[in-house]
Amino acid sequence: MISNTIVLPNGIELKNRIVKAAMSEALADKTNQPNTDHIALYERWAEGGAGVLISGNVMIDRSQLGEPGNIVLDNKTDRNALISWAKAGTYNDTKFLLQINHPGKQAPKSMSKKPVAPSTIKLSKEFSALFNEPRELTTDEVRELIEKFVLAGKIAEETGFSGVEIHAAHGYLINQFLSPADNKRKDEYGGTLKNRMRFMVEVFQGIRKITSPKFIIGLKLNSSDFTEDGFSEKDSLKVIVQMAELGIDFIEISGGNYEKAKVMDVGQGVFFLDFAKKAQNSVDIPIMLTGGLTSKQGIEDVIHKEGISLVGLGRSLIMNPNIPNQLISDAFQSVQLPRLSTGIKTLDKKVGGAIGIAYYEQQIEKLVAGKQAKYTTNAWGPLLHTVFRHGLHSITGKRR
Ligand SMILES: Cc1cc2nc3c(=O)[nH]c(=O)nc-3n(C[C@H](O)[C@H](O)[C@H](O)COP(=O)(O)O)c2cc1C
Repeated sequence: MISNTIVLPNGIELKNRIVKAAMSEALADKTNQPNTDHIALYERWAEGGAGVLISGNVMIDRSQLGEPGNIVLDNKTDRNALISWAKAGTYNDTKFLLQINHPGKQAPKSMSKKPVAPSTIKLSKEFSALFNEPRELTTDEVRELIEKFVLAGKIAEETGFSGVEIHAAHGYLINQFLSPADNKRKDEYGGTLKNRMRFMVEVFQGIRKITSPKFIIGLKLNSSDFTEDGFSEKDSLKVIVQMAELGIDFIEISGGNYEKAKVMDVGQGVFFLDFAKKAQNSVDIPIMLTGGLTSKQGIEDVIHKEGISLVGLGRSLIMNPNIPNQLISDAFQSVQLPRLSTGIKTLDKKVGGAIGIAYYEQQIEKLVAGKQAKYTTNAWGPLLHTVFRHGLHSITGKRR
């Protein structure tokens, strides 16, 4: 049952099976600290009844940000602000995890002049206006970045968070290490799958070592990159089995990257279901499936019919933050996600990903203000709002 508790491999019990998936809040100012907006937002989601809240991706390196408004988790971050944020997200017997991330080559030009990556493989031509070619990390720099992830885990525990989710999906740095298309390294962090996994494994083991056993460590992993020579389903299954053996507490299944965007579809049903079933059948640890879930029937089927342990809800919980409570009290049927458009097909194609993100970020601001999200299919409002808030470069990549 969705409302049933579940015990993670580290012994921590979750009050139900519903997880708020990571969604970048874009609410931090230039100091990249959590603020009262983050507190209001996560209080609202905690009140909504989910067993677990996962924050939007929090950056582990101040010099390499993924989006405007990111939070950074390092020794410069205000501990009191983190403590207040952790309290807000955990108050309703909710577990609150920080999703820790590094964008690698997916750091936009407006955020980083020279991104870093396992190898100097740039994004495809159509993305050249938005992203610079990355430079290859030295082996020492790779180890320094692993240490930064580990430090982020340590700070998360010290400031009261229930755990972290390591972001190894969506084409960001750890995904780049996993992908044979992006990782051409000749040192111990490249080559065989064992070597390509090493970055992620060392991040996980480093955090496990420095935190207490009750600290939850989860992983968000692509089922596949959906590119010819990228991270494949076959590799992904092997990684899942291996990470389960090493003691990860849960694995969230996702897919795609900036070039092969998969997670913002509307009306395509549940994403990655077949793969998630295969994954759940291969391991004893909880598998979490996120993507496309908007109805009671869909959510219940994932848990009851398909036997997957946890469901992740993203956009649905922006449209209605009370879904978990309403599911449990049998007061929820479904929520509608808008199909956004500027009305100009070529423009929709060009800024398609940005449109969805712009819309949901705008709705997040409504939740912060104690209001409800507003359903619209007109993309112009959200796009202009984003340009006003973050600058034109946040969509075009060009700084004036
Ligand atoms: C505004 C927005 C921001 C997102 N930011 C993140 C993020 O920081 N980390 C992440 O892993 N996924 C992120 N996602 C993807 C979601 O976690 C999720 O995988 C995706 O929205 C599909 O789930 P859904 O259909 O329930 O929304 C984001 C999605 C949206 C809409």
